This record gives sequence, structure tokens and C-alpha cells, in this order.
Amino acid sequence: MLEVEGISGGYGSAQALRDVSVDVGDGEIVTLVGPTGAGKSTFVNIIAGLHRAWSGSVTFDGQDLTALRPARVCQQGVVIVPEGRRLFADLTVTDNLDIGAYHPAARAHRDDTYEWVCSIFPILAERRNQRAGNLSGGEQQMVAIGRALMARPRLLLLDEPSLGLAPVIVETIFEVIRNINETGTSILIVEQNVVEALELASRAYVLEDGRIVRHGDASELLEDESLQKAYFGM
Ligand SMILES: Nc1ncnc2c1ncn2[C@@H]1O[C@H](COP(=O)(O)OP(=O)(O)OP(=O)(O)O)[C@@H](O)[C@H]1O
Ligand SMILES: [Mg+2]
Repeated sequence: MLEVEGISGGYGSAQALRDVSVDVGDGEIVTLVGPTGAGKSTFVNIIAGLHRAWSGSVTFDGQDLTALRPARVCQQGVVIVPEGRRLFADLTVTDNLDIGAYHPAARAHRDDTYEWVCSIFPILAERRNQRAGNLSGGEQQMVAIGRALMARPRLLLLDEPSLGLAPVIVETIFEVIRNINETGTSILIVEQNVVEALELASRAYVLEDGRIVRHGDASELLEDESLQKAYFGM
């Protein structure tokens, strides 16, 4: 479904990614894990059209997304929940959600999708008229995911959805991601929370210093001793 081939890129003359290739199959949950500064956000931002690659290609269902602007990538069905959530703090929950449904195909289904998002996150229905900036971190992350769902993605890119959240909230968010996947949405999730991400995903890629150093079945990587030493503090 998603084929990312040989991406190199960076900022100015500083290279952040070297020849990175990642696939996501239809209906899959795939995770990209790695330490701070490895290049994970740069990579998903390139897929979403938020950052331009130096070389390589992004193909989604046979369509070349490589040079498309973010709004066009979103229209093709690939939607990002960016690192740090990027909500409009002064707007209400509903207004933030509606921003996700701005493209015509999504707007046509706005009411149904809104109901669906509220069924996934009942707390957002309760808080619909509150300013997003007044919500807890977990609730803000729910708004960020909800806003992405309003665009009716076929592939959801999640950049560290667990960042800064208490463990019990992380559990809720991961459970919701699993439920969203079960409705048929493919997922590429970037995480520093390596164990949880590997438990959620079917396949995983490990990014270090801009390069993929390992990839394979998530369950196998979870058992891998060298990864356990490097990442799980075992
Ligand atoms: N806007 C920017 N300008 C210059 N350098 C940047 C910029 N954004 C990221 N970098 C650099 O690019 C490299 C990769 O950063 P990136 O944010 O992609 O890593 P990451 O894996 O997402 O890290 P984290 O887990 O901390 O979010 C780092 O060396 C970082 O300092
Ligand atoms: Mg990042």
C-alpha cells in the first residue's frame, strides 16, 4: 500500500536520513522506532509532504506522492498526526476536529465521521465546546488523532502519540489505535516507547542515525537480545 524507497534528506547541509526504505501493507500496523534525533519525524514528515526529500520516492496505492503538497497527500488518504499535536489551542474541540474534514470528500461525510470519532473518544463529545488548550495532554492527543480521522485516512501516520502522557493514558491511546486499525485503517507509528510499539505492530523498523539498522516481525524484534540491551533497559 505504502512504499517508501531510498529516502535521503535533511536540513541545509545536515543529512538526517540515508537511503531509508519502508513498506506498509494494506491493513497493517508498522512501527518505526529509534532514539531521539534518529530521523523518525523527518521521515514521516517527508511522507506527509511537510518536508521535501533530497532523493527517493513515496508511492501510495501506485500513486507517486513524492512531490505533493500536504493537502494533496491528505486527499490521497495519507494523514499525519504530527509530533506535539499542533492543535489550535483557542479553538473548541469541535472546531479542531472540523479542520481535519476540510477537503471536499471528507466534508461530504463530516457528520458521520464526527459521530464515529465521538464514539471512539466519548470524552471529546463531552468536551466538544471547550477550548482545546484547556484539555489534558491525553485529551489533546485524542483531539489530534480525531482531527486526522476526520479526513477519513486509509493510512494514518502517528508521530510519537504517547509523548509526555502518563502510562495509563498511553495504554488507552494504544488501545484506540488498535481499534482504528481494526476498522481497516493502516497505521505507521513512530515511537520511542519501543516495547509498547512492538507489541502493537506486526512489523517494525529500527532507525538509528538516519539509517534503518534492523527490520522484521515486531514479535521477533521484541525477543532480540541486542535490541533489549539497547532499548529496553534489560
Ligand atoms: N528543523 C530542523 N532544522 C535543522 N535540523 C533539524 C530540524 N529538525 C530536525 N533536525 C535534525 O535532524 C535530525 C533528525 O531529527 P528528527 O526530529 O527527525 O528525529 P526524531 O527521531 O524524530 O527525534 P525525536 O525522537 O526526538 O522526535 C536531528 O539531528 C535533528 O537535530
Ligand atoms: Mg520526532
